[in-house]
Amino acid sequence: MDTMNPKTKKQIRQELRSIRTKISADEHISCATKIQKAITNLSFWQISQNIAIYLPMAGEIDVLPILEQAWQEGKTCYLPVVKAGENAVLEFVKYQKNDALRTNTCGAKEPLATTPKISPEHLDLVIVPLVGFNESGMRLGQGGGFYDRTFAFKKDLPKNSKPLLIGVAYELQKIRHLPKETWDVAMDLVITEKKIYTDS
Ligand SMILES: Nc1ncnc2c1ncn2[C@@H]1O[C@H](COP(=O)(O)OP(=O)(O)OP(=O)(O)O)[C@@H](O)[C@H]1O
Ligand SMILES: [Mg+2]
Repeated sequence: MDTMNPKTKKQIRQELRSIRTKISADEHISCATKIQKAITNLSFWQISQNIAIYLPMAGEIDVLPILEQAWQEGKTCYLPVVKAGENAVLEFVKYQKNDALRTNTCGAKEPLATTPKISPEHLDLVIVPLVGFNESGMRLGQGGGFYDRTFAFKKDLPKNSKPLLIGVAYELQKIRHLPKETWDVAMDLVITEKKIYTDS
């Protein structure tokens, strides 16, 4: 990379989104299965009861098999809902099979009902979508700052404190140079189809 002229987050997002479109449907499924196994084999998964997950948008890792497994294991699952307004944060609303959904202004599906909620501090584990990441778990999201604002409290806690933030990604979303800003919240783990990245 040209260190005199480092790429902006916006440029990196565009490049990575474009790379992600080249993944075939078969690879998409096989990567999702590998990531499901890696997450659900973690000892932390077994002791987690309250899990936040997301409904995948185009190009994002398909975490629906993880959601199904969580339900089968009797875990309580939550989906992020973008709370309107400036400096918006995410609220986490309980999601059960066949609950009604609507599409929000960002194009993501979210529960129609807005209760019951759980405060982010009370979640055990959060599965986080991302556009890019680096080896030490820094994350590049869609650019809204929603996860950063919602989990800003994690910056004052030791690594691996609850809720455990697990970024899920394709290996090809890994980049060496990621601009890190003061507000960026690191993932405790990033899990790809090839590897589990942890900085500790
Ligand atoms: N803790 C915070 N307090 C206030 N503003 C914040 C905070 N975190 C992020 N922001 C704002 O959000 C904007 C987007 O941040 P950034 O580019 O890091 O998004 P992102 O990490 O890609 O998004 P997301 O977290 O939604 O995936 C920034 O311009 C910043 O002003
Ligand atoms: Mg950020």
